[in-house]
This record gives sequence, structure tokens and C-alpha cells, in this order.
Amino acid sequence: MQKFEQFLQDNLPQSQSIHPHYEQALHTMLNAGGKRFRPALLLGVVEAYNPLLVESAYHAAYAIELLHTYSLIHDDLPAMDDSPLRRGNPTLHVVYDEVTAILVGDALNTYAFEVLSDAPFSDETKVKLVKELAHNGGLHGMVLGQAIDCHFENKPLALEDIKTLHTNKTAKLIAASLKMGAIIVGREDVAEKLYDFGIKLGLLFQIQDDILDVTQSSEEAGKLTNNDEDKNNFVTILGLDKALREANALADELTQEMGSFDESLQRELSPILTKYINRHK
Ligand code: IPE
Ligand code: IPE
Ligand code: MG
Ligand code: MG
Ligand code: MG
Repeated sequence: MQKFEQFLQDNLPQSQSIHPHYEQALHTMLNAGGKRFRPALLLGVVEAYNPLLVESAYHAAYAIELLHTYSLIHDDLPAMDDSPLRRGNPTLHVVYDEVTAILVGDALNTYAFEVLSDAPFSDETKVKLVKELAHNGGLHGMVLGQAIDCHFENKPLALEDIKTLHTNKTAKLIAASLKMGAIIVGREDVAEKLYDFGIKLGLLFQIQDDILDVTQSSEEAGKLTNNDEDKNNFVTILGLDKALREANALADELTQEMGSFDESLQRELSPILTKYINRHK
């Protein structure tokens, strides 16, 4: 991932203008790190099936990270989760103002597709990747999830509806990361299986995130914790113990499913998954 980080640094959004802090603000949350979980998944799939394409795939991995980073900047806005801390740094609306945070989010969102359009792949592959990222990161995915998440604050939902919420808000972009890897290496035969696996993985990822929201300090998490009492999630609806049991069950299911993957895929994805699959424990 070190080379990917270098690629990201080399391709930070550039904008010289009369604006005193626009460019700086564009860079802040990208430079602040984060787990780079979604890029690692995409690159893992590419490494498994065609290591020669890994460097070309940095464009796609970066595009996902850009879109994800935009989603975090908007998620923290006062109108949404109202959080002062992200990736260990004060949020953009705190450092600058809301206008800057909104517009930086907008810019990273569209820059994601600019970066993807520069990828050294055939136009056909690029259109497929654009569609996958837009579909799962936009109105049919992350944005829909965020809309439901915010609309139903303090209005308890049924567990099935919470699963739908998590699927859209978080799981679809994670599933798309794996699927985009499969598209890049031309293995559309495994794309759907990876997507379905990614949906489960993403559901687990969000349940874990909600568990960590009540078990970690803000310093440990690098973001404001204990901030979700008004939200619909497994912890607020089921309580911590049942949420933990649900996470354990999903983690076991995913570990089992991994066993049916091609060996090269298991070899590449196992280290990433081992790192994250038990992080709620
Ligand atoms: C946080 O995502 C938001 C969720 C979807 C749970 P990450 O936990 O991947 O955040 P970073 O990228 O590491 O900051
Ligand atoms: C947000 O979920 C998921 C996104 C689409 C950004 P959360 O609101 O739980 O994410 P954190 O905990 O603030 O990172
Ligand atoms: Mg949120
Ligand atoms: Mg939040
Ligand atoms: Mg959270």
C-alpha cells in the first residue's frame, strides 16, 4: 500500500487560485490517512488475478478513496452527524467553515470520476468502472443510505430496514471495491460473487463501526465517538451484546465463504480480512 499512498500523494487535487485555503482544504482529509480499506480490497483482487495491472489499478482505487473521503466530510457536517473530529484531525467545517466543507466534498466527489477517466484502461472498462462507482456510491447506494440514516434519527426502524440502511450507506461501496477489481482483470465471472461477499463484509464493517462508536474513545477512533444514540443501528436497537453476537456470526460466515475463493484470491484478501474481520473484539 506504500506505492498506492505515493500515487495518491502524486495525484492530490491541484488548484491554484485566489482562494486562500481551497487547495489546502482539499488535501487535509486525504492526507490525514484512514485505513484505505476500500483501495486495499480492490488492489487485492487485481493482485490475485493479474499483478501486472496493479499499478494501473491505482487510479480506480484512488477514485474510490476520493469518493469515500467526500462522504466522510459531508457525514461530519452539522446538518448530518455534526462531528468535530475525523481521521484524528479537526473537521473541515471546524477549521474553515461549512461552505468549505460542502464544496471540498463536492470537489472530491467529481474529482473521483476525473481520476477514473484517466485510468490506463480501455474505454469499455472505464465506463463499467464509472458506472459501478456511481451506482454504489451515489443515489442508489451511499447517498440513499445516508438519506435514510439521517431521516430516521430518533425513529426506530425494524432490523431488516437497518440492514437495508447499512447495505446502502456502507456495504455497497465496499462491495463495489471488490467488484471493480474483478472488472479491471476481466474476471466478470467472479465479480458477482465478490460483490455479494462485499455486501456481507460491508454490513459487518458498519456493525463494527457502530460497536466501536460505543467502546472506543474519540482519541482511539480518531473521530467523535458516542455520537450515535439517535441513530438506527444494531447497537442502539439490539444492545451491545446482541450486536457483538451478530458481528461474530457474520465474521464466521465470511471466514467460511473465503474458503471457497480461488487460492490466489484467498492469499491476497486473507491478510486484509484478518486485520478487519475481528476488529470489534
Ligand atoms: C468510516 O469508514 C465510515 C463507515 C462507512 C463506517 P472507515 O472506517 O473506512 O474510515 P477511514 O477511511 O478509515 O477514515
Ligand atoms: C457513515 O457512517 C458512513 C458514510 C457513508 C460516511 P457513520 O456516520 O457511522 O461513520 P462515522 O462513524 O462517522 O465514520
Ligand atoms: Mg453518519
Ligand atoms: Mg458519522
Ligand atoms: Mg460510525
